[in-house]
Amino acid sequence: IITIILLIGTTKAGMIYEGGDPGDFDFYLFVEQWIYSFCDTQSCLPGKEREAFTIHGLWPNNNDGSYPSFCKGQPFDVDEIADIEPQLDTIWPSLTGPNPDFWAHEWSKHGTCSITGPLADLHDYFFATVHIYQTYNITGGLAQFNILPSDNATYSAPSVVDALSKQFGVTPLIQCTGNRLVTVAFCLTKDLKLMSCPALNGWSCSGNVILPAT
Ligand SMILES: *[C@@H]1O[C@H](CO)[C@@H](O)[C@H](O)[C@H]1NC(C)=O
Ligand SMILES: *[C@@H]1O[C@H](CO)[C@@H](O)[C@H](O)[C@H]1NC(C)=O
Repeated sequence: IITIILLIGTTKAGMIYEGGDPGDFDFYLFVEQWIYSFCDTQSCLPGKEREAFTIHGLWPNNNDGSYPSFCKGQPFDVDEIADIEPQLDTIWPSLTGPNPDFWAHEWSKHGTCSITGPLADLHDYFFATVHIYQTYNITGGLAQFNILPSDNATYSAPSVVDALSKQFGVTPLIQCTGNRLVTVAFCLTKDLKLMSCPALNGWSCSGNVILPAT
């Protein structure tokens, strides 16, 4: 519930509409959060905090900032992703509740609308998202430019965007809470190729930020 409120309240500006046809959108946002920053404002479960970006989700979005949600389609079934569940537990954990509940939410809200092109079903959706995470390593990309986890070192927000743009060849979006870098998103075409993100409401960060280590 907390995650849902956060998503609607702050992470995603722009109009949400429910229903609609799977595949009827402009591009994907692939969204990761830095755990220590996320857990600074959320009640995370014990044992969840570590130095890592983990997956929040793969979200269909439109160029005007609106996005579809809760499309018609396959109901969530954790058995369908049993083969990658151990990986999902590590790289796509819920930080505030049971992992399968989080995956069920992401699937129902965003996954059902994502089925198009190379994504034929629920398994494809989760498998592709894991592949994107592994292919575009944000922590590694930042480290190439000496942007490292620390409670002390500060980096200008534009330098964080610059580092990721140089590393991956496209412009990402970032969000901060206070001076903490909390969210990074890459944009992908409906063929799952990286593209530069358009400016979107709710995605901004300025001043100096940290990538906290606690
Ligand atoms: C990403 O890079 C970091 C830092 O270089 C490394 O520790 C981590 O294992 C990498 N993650 C993946 C999924 O390759
Ligand atoms: C941050 O600063 C504190 C106090 O100056 C110091 O004790 C600590 O080792 C520093 N941490 C890092 C990661 O540099």
